Amino acid sequence: MKKHIYILLFFFLGVIMCSFGQGPKTFKLKGNLQYCDNQLKRTLNELKDSCVMPRSMNSGQKKWKLVGIHDWTSGFWPGILWYDYEYFRNDRIKGKAIQYTEYLQPLVTPNQKGDHDVGFQIFCSYGNAYRLTGNEKYKKIILEAAAKLSELYNPVVGTILSWPNMVQKMGWPHNTIIDNMMNLEILFWASKNGGDKKYYDMAYNHAKITKENAFRENGSCFHVAVYDTINGNFIKGVTNQGYSDNSMWARGQAWAIYGYTMVYRETLDKQFLRFAEKVANIYLDRLPEDYVPYWDFDVPNLQNEPRDASAAAIATSALLELSQLEDDKGKAERYKFAAIATLNELSSKKYQSRKANNSFLNHCTGNYPSGYEIDASINYADYYYIEALIRCDKMQNRSSF
Ligand code: GLY
Repeated sequence: MKKHIYILLFFFLGVIMCSFGQGPKTFKLKGNLQYCDNQLKRTLNELKDSCVMPRSMNSGQKKWKLVGIHDWTSGFWPGILWYDYEYFRNDRIKGKAIQYTEYLQPLVTPNQKGDHDVGFQIFCSYGNAYRLTGNEKYKKIILEAAAKLSELYNPVVGTILSWPNMVQKMGWPHNTIIDNMMNLEILFWASKNGGDKKYYDMAYNHAKITKENAFRENGSCFHVAVYDTINGNFIKGVTNQGYSDNSMWARGQAWAIYGYTMVYRETLDKQFLRFAEKVANIYLDRLPEDYVPYWDFDVPNLQNEPRDASAAAIATSALLELSQLEDDKGKAERYKFAAIATLNELSSKKYQSRKANNSFLNHCTGNYPSGYEIDASINYADYYYIEALIRCDKMQNRSSF
């Protein structure tokens, strides 16, 4: 009898701790989505009817740096508008989301040079547009983008050539960057939605070959994996935006967590779930106390270095999904706890831009070695931040992402 009372007591304590300490209920979701809505309306006023996209702002600046549609980040601004529309259902925002999405159509013009970024550009814009409107015209564009991306697949290596321009420039015969994991999603999507079925195999192989070569034993990733085009062998792992070839570049690791979580969702192959855990665990084990990483985990004198809130935003969105896909309750709780803790930090006055400028977040690092977007606001940080808020909302309402 006594034993049963203890079991019951532990059970209730567990329930109480879960609901107070770890669940999205502890997070002020609506207020933060309202904050994003206010900020993006200020950006819309700033842009007027311009057909360029807001990309970034250095610390202290008030106005967005604007970029054309060929910039790799051009899909994030329409994507942000779609997420806002998804929550608030405001028709004016929907109109703006359509307008900025449709500016990107020339990106799928046949025979235009491109790289793996067509996935970011088209799936964040048209992908969300199709998901929320079902407009067949958008579906066609997504399929065209997937076809373009598939042209970069090298069957000898088994991965996509991420940066064709770096073949000559850097002497990297076949290069696959960790960021490219994100763009497998458009291939998986296309293979299920009228595109060539071989896109699935391409994405699957890319994920598998990258898993085998682009990571160190401890689960941290290289930024760039270089391969031989004759025999397909891995030559070396190097960095482009991290501190050194052997360091853990924060955003790269975040792309990896997100990428392998998404690959597991699409394939249900457990090797990818176990791998997503491995790349997430080293990231979480090495985070500073406030859950927002410095731009690279291995840079000397870390405390004096800039943070990268964009990496935190990408990781938090990924961890929310990972927590939902987990087959282990303890791990699911760990990832959910870390995701909510990160989201709480990002939503604090330390990381939200608030009156400083019209973006959502500050303290992001785009490319430290090249000296730009250091301690800045950047559109992809905002995109994954609002995506994470929306995912939180869906978790509360128990609907799928
Ligand atoms: N995909 C480019 C970057 O993460 O900076």
